[in-house]
Amino acid sequence: MRLITLILSLVVITMTTAIAAEKIVVAHRGASGYLPEHTMPAKAMAYAMGPDYIEQDVVMTKDDRLVVLHDHFLDQVTDVQEKFPNRKRADGRYYVIDFTLAEILTLNVLERFHIDETGKKVAYFPGRFPLGKSIFKVHTLEDEIEMIQGLNKSTGQNIGIYTESKSAAFHLSEGKDLSKAILQAFKKYGYDSKNSNAYYQTFEYDDLKRVHDELLPELDMDIKLVQLMGEEEEYNDLITRDGLKALSKYADGIGPSISMITKADKSAEGYHITDLVKDAHDAGLVVHPYTFRAERFAMPKFVGSFDELLDLFYNKIGVDGLFSDFPDRAVRFLHKK
Ligand code: G3P
Ligand code: CA
Repeated sequence: MRLITLILSLVVITMTTAIAAEKIVVAHRGASGYLPEHTMPAKAMAYAMGPDYIEQDVVMTKDDRLVVLHDHFLDQVTDVQEKFPNRKRADGRYYVIDFTLAEILTLNVLERFHIDETGKKVAYFPGRFPLGKSIFKVHTLEDEIEMIQGLNKSTGQNIGIYTESKSAAFHLSEGKDLSKAILQAFKKYGYDSKNSNAYYQTFEYDDLKRVHDELLPELDMDIKLVQLMGEEEEYNDLITRDGLKALSKYADGIGPSISMITKADKSAEGYHITDLVKDAHDAGLVVHPYTFRAERFAMPKFVGSFDELLDLFYNKIGVDGLFSDFPDRAVRFLHKK
């Protein structure tokens, strides 16, 4: 009897370890908690931290090159206002799509900022890399894939790419097929099947459906797809049990915001857990929420520390992975467990 108990315990421990090992860390915009987001140094630093995937947000230039930037605007992460003061549109924004790659490469990348009422640049995350120090540049998706694949060769690791098509509909309305170009880059670099170490992610359901129904068959590829989502009304139907079941025909997983999974309330714990993760798992979808930031003001009030937040999501809620600006902290947390 005691032997059976021992064997069962060992089986449970082995299974738990296997499940824990499958949980992933996605370096959100690289090691963006430490260096300006989406720069090569931030990606190299992230790589050295040992995440499972490094994230790329991708937009397109005037001359159809794919660049790694979070927005289709340049004005919150570069010095475009100083270098090209006359190139903003009527809305006051500087659009990536209005600049050639050669022009964009003349810009310096800064820690993300906004401009206050006095015209001064103010960092979104004051504790992070100082604004305007050192030299950082925009780079192409191809450059980044080549660096990650190069490091995979030189280190013997196999870190993947987790690439988001940003504002696909906007690009299409401007005559640019961003999503197709991203998939062509995937194929060029050998990411062409569900077994490839790559995810394609998008907030736009129409984009996901087009990629699944038209572009992947046309390009003779079949890669892992993730539907990103936020609290906006457009996702209300998608997050019902039926909606998730229907989504599972197109996607392998979902990427919800933290606030779609935990809601602050007046209970003793200060929050409750929604059905989203359970319902998504029941529909066969993996769940990779965003964005896990270690700054106190960027964390939900009901957790006391970043490790507590990671414990809540990885262990108590049971997500399959998460996006973090501090990939080292998430990697360390998983290894500790
Ligand atoms: O793609 C997952 C997460 O990055 C979504 O948020 O706005 O940082 O792209 P965002
Ligand atoms: Ca993203």
